[in-house]
Amino acid sequence: MAEFLVNGKPVVAEKNQKLLRFLRDELQLTGVKDGCSEGACGTCHVLIDGKLTKACVPSTDKLAGKSVLTVEGLSAFEKEVYVYAFAEAGAVQCGFCIPGMVLAAKALLDCNPNPTRAEARAAIRYNICRCTGYVKIVDGILLAAEIFRAGTLPAPSADDYQVGSRVHRIDVAEKVLGYGKYPDDVSVEGLCYGSAVRSAYPRARVLSIDTAAAEALPGVVCVLTQKDIPGQVNVGHIKKDQPTLIGVGELTHYLGDAIALVCARDRESLEAAKKLVKVEYEVLPAVHNPAEAAAPDAPLVFEGNESNVQSHKHLARGDAAGAIARSAHVISRHFETPWTEHAFLEPECCVALPLENGGVRLLTSDQSAHTTQRECAAMLGVDLEHCLVENQLVGGGFGGKEDMSVQHHAALIAYVARVPVKVKLSRAESILVHPKRHPFSMDFTLGCDETGIIQGVKARLVSDTGAFASLGGPVLERACTHAAGPYAYENFEIEGTAYYTNNPPAGAFRGFGVTQSCFAIESLLNEMAERVGISPWEIRMRNAIRPGGVLPNGQIVGPETGLVETLERAKPYYDAAIAAGDPVGLACAMKNAGVGVGLPDWGRAKLIIEDDGKLHIYSGASCIGQGLGTVLVQMVVTNACLRPDQIVYERSNTWIAPDSGDTSGSRQTLITGEAVRRACKKLVAALEGKTLADLKGQEFYGEFLAKTDPLGAELPNPVSHVAYGYATQMCVLDRESGKIKQLYGIHDVGKAVNPLSCEGQIEGGMVMSMGYALTERYPIDENCKPTAKFGTLGLFRADQIPEITAIVVDKPGLPYANGAIGIGEITSIPTAPAIAEAYYQRDGLRRTILPLTGTPYERK
Ligand code: FES
Ligand code: FES
Repeated sequence: MAEFLVNGKPVVAEKNQKLLRFLRDELQLTGVKDGCSEGACGTCHVLIDGKLTKACVPSTDKLAGKSVLTVEGLSAFEKEVYVYAFAEAGAVQCGFCIPGMVLAAKALLDCNPNPTRAEARAAIRYNICRCTGYVKIVDGILLAAEIFRAGTLPAPSADDYQVGSRVHRIDVAEKVLGYGKYPDDVSVEGLCYGSAVRSAYPRARVLSIDTAAAEALPGVVCVLTQKDIPGQVNVGHIKKDQPTLIGVGELTHYLGDAIALVCARDRESLEAAKKLVKVEYEVLPAVHNPAEAAAPDAPLVFEGNESNVQSHKHLARGDAAGAIARSAHVISRHFETPWTEHAFLEPECCVALPLENGGVRLLTSDQSAHTTQRECAAMLGVDLEHCLVENQLVGGGFGGKEDMSVQHHAALIAYVARVPVKVKLSRAESILVHPKRHPFSMDFTLGCDETGIIQGVKARLVSDTGAFASLGGPVLERACTHAAGPYAYENFEIEGTAYYTNNPPAGAFRGFGVTQSCFAIESLLNEMAERVGISPWEIRMRNAIRPGGVLPNGQIVGPETGLVETLERAKPYYDAAIAAGDPVGLACAMKNAGVGVGLPDWGRAKLIIEDDGKLHIYSGASCIGQGLGTVLVQMVVTNACLRPDQIVYERSNTWIAPDSGDTSGSRQTLITGEAVRRACKKLVAALEGKTLADLKGQEFYGEFLAKTDPLGAELPNPVSHVAYGYATQMCVLDRESGKIKQLYGIHDVGKAVNPLSCEGQIEGGMVMSMGYALTERYPIDENCKPTAKFGTLGLFRADQIPEITAIVVDKPGLPYANGAIGIGEITSIPTAPAIAEAYYQRDGLRRTILPLTGTPYERK
C-alpha cells in the first residue's frame, strides 16, 4: 500500500501495481496511454515530483509521499495553451502519443522557458510518434513556450474553414487533454478481459485442446474453442482464409493463430488461465520464405491448395522485350525490400457489449466499422442488426488495422458469454499478429534511348504474404501496376507472385506495394541517368507524365496531373545542393487515390439536421488519424455555405452512417469527400429561403461511385484509377558525417483541403520511410517468430530527424471533391530511392537492398 498525490489530490494504492495500471484502471485517467507497457514508447509519460517518468515502469509501492501529474492535472491555462499551440502547429494526428508529448514538453518548459529547436527535440526523444515525423510537435512545443512567455493566448485566427485554409483540426482538444476515447479508454460496469491462447508452432496439427483446468480457475468466465463459433469459422478481408480459432485436427498457419479464447473478470486470472489451456500438437515442417514455398515438394501452408501461390499477376502492354532490345542503354538489377511493422502507437483493442436483442455492439479501433460488422456478423451467424459496430478514436493504422485482430474475438466472447469484454493485444502480440508490409524481391530491366527517354520496362516481383491472403493480392497488383513509374511510355511487362508461408501475415501498409516497386524503378532510373550522362532530375523531367499523356497502363491522365510542377519546385533546392557540393538524391512517385481497377468504390455520407439545430455529418469512413473529420467539415463549409460551429462530425458507426468503404488507398478525402459534396448540393437546394433550424429532422444523402475499368480491360485507354497523386522527394546528405541534412517532400495533391494537414502527412510519411530506408527491421527467426520488440524495431526518434521541407503543390482540375486527391500513402513512397541515390552520390556504391548498408544509421 502507498499514499501519494495524483494531480494534487491524495490517493491510496492498496495493491502494489504498475503506476500505469493504477492511474488508468482505478483513477480512470485516460490521458495516460498504454502503448507498450514495456517502457519503450512514451505514451504513458507522467511527471513524478516534476521529473518525466514512464508510468509503466514504477510500481505504486515505490511512490509513497510523491506527487504524480498527468495531463488531466495541468492548470486551466496550460491546457488552453497546449490545445491552441498543438492545433495551430498541426501537431496532432492520431493523437495517441500526444498527452505523453505534452508532459515531456511541460518537463522542458518548466525549467527552460525559451528552448531551442534542438532542445525541444531532445525533450521528446523518449516519446515515439509514428504519425507526424515530430516536426509539427516540436513547432507546437516552441509555440507553447512563446505563449507561456507572453502570458496570454493569441487572439483566435480568422480561419473560415473553407477548402484550402490552414485550419485547426476539430479533434485536437480531446487528444491533447486525453479525454477522447480510444477503445482501451472505455470502461463499463462488469467489464471482463479476453485474450487468445496462440499456437506454439508456426505449422503443426492440433491434436487436442483441454480447457478444463482453465475453466475451473476462479475468476474465469469462459474458455471458448472453435466448436463455440456459431457462424463461419473463417474471417478474411477478401479471401476468407483466417480461422477465428483453429480446431482439433486442423493445421496452424503461424504463431499468431488463436487456439482458444479465455475470458476472465480480472487480468491476473486471465493470464493464469491462459497458461492452464493444454494443447497437444503434431509439429510439422514450416515454410519460411517464398523460395521454400515455391519448391516442388514444399509443405502446403493450406491443406487442399495445389501450391503455396497466393496470387499471380501478369500485366503487359506494348512490346517490352522488343523495346528493350532496341534500346541504346539497358540496365538490369535485383532489388530486395524488407518486412516492416506498422508500429502504430495504439495496440489493437476492441470492447464488445452484449445487446438486449441477443447480439453484440463493438467499440473498435479499425479502418472500417462496416467491414468489421460484416466479418463479425458472418462469424457469429447473425444478421447485421445483431452486430453493431462503432468506431472510437483510432490511434494510427497505416493499413495494419484493416484485418480482424481482436474484433472477432471480442465479439465471440460477448456473444457467447453475455458479458462486456475488452480484448486488447499486448505489444508483443500486436507485433506478431497484424499483417505487415510485404517483403519483396524484384528483378527489373529498364531500356532507354540515347537521350534517356524510357523505351520499356520488364520486371519480375515476388512477395511473401505469410500466413493469410489478407490484402496480399491487391498489394501485389498495386506493386505491379505502379512498377512502371509516373512516366509516359507504353511498353512494359510485369509478372508478380505472392506466396503463402508460415510467417506472420503481410497485408496493407502505407504505399500498398508501391513503396517496394518504386524503390526498384526509381533506383534504376537514377543509374540510367548517369549512364546517359544527364542528371536524375533531368531524366525525370524528360519522361514525366503530363496532362493528356498516356501512362504505361494506358490511362490518359487529366489536367490535375502535377508531376512536372513538383519537379519544377524541387529544382532550385536540387541545384543549390549540387552547387554546395552536398550529395543529393531525388526520386518521384505516383499513387492512386481510390480502390480502382474496376472494383466497386463507393463513397457515402448523410447530413442530418438534428434537434440541436446543427448539421451532423455521418459517414462510414474511419478517421484513423489523418484528419478526415476536419476535411469533411471543410467540405460542408465550402459547399453548403455554413459556419463550422453549425457542423458536428460524428465518428463512424454502422447504424446511422452509410458504408463508405475502408480507409485505405488514400481514398477517403476524394471518395467520401465527393459524397459529402453531393449531399451538400441537395442541402443547398433545400436551404433556399430557409435556415438550418427549419430543416430539423431532415436528412441529405450523397453517394459517389468512383467508376474505373478492370485490369486487362480490352480498351485502348482504360481508366485504372479515378485519380493519382504525384510527388518528388529529395534527400541531401552532410558529406562529412553521412547523416541526412535535409529532406524535401514536394507533393501534388490536386486541391489541398487543409495544407497544414497535408504538410503533416508529408513529414510523417517521409520519417516513416527514413526508417524503412535506413533503420527499421522486423527479423523473423527459424521458428517463423518475429524477434523484435517495440524498442528494437528501429523507429526514428525526434532528436534523430533531419530538417524537413514539406511543399504542397495545388493543381486543381479533378472534377470531384473540390479537386482534392488523397495524400496518405504517397508520402512514404519515393523516400527510400531518394535516400539511396544520395548515398551513391556520396560514396559511389549502388545499394539495391533495404535497409541500406554502409550508412551512419546502419544497425549491426
Ligand atoms: S506504455 Fe509506458 S513506455 Fe510505452
Ligand atoms: S499523432 Fe503521434 S502517434 Fe499518432
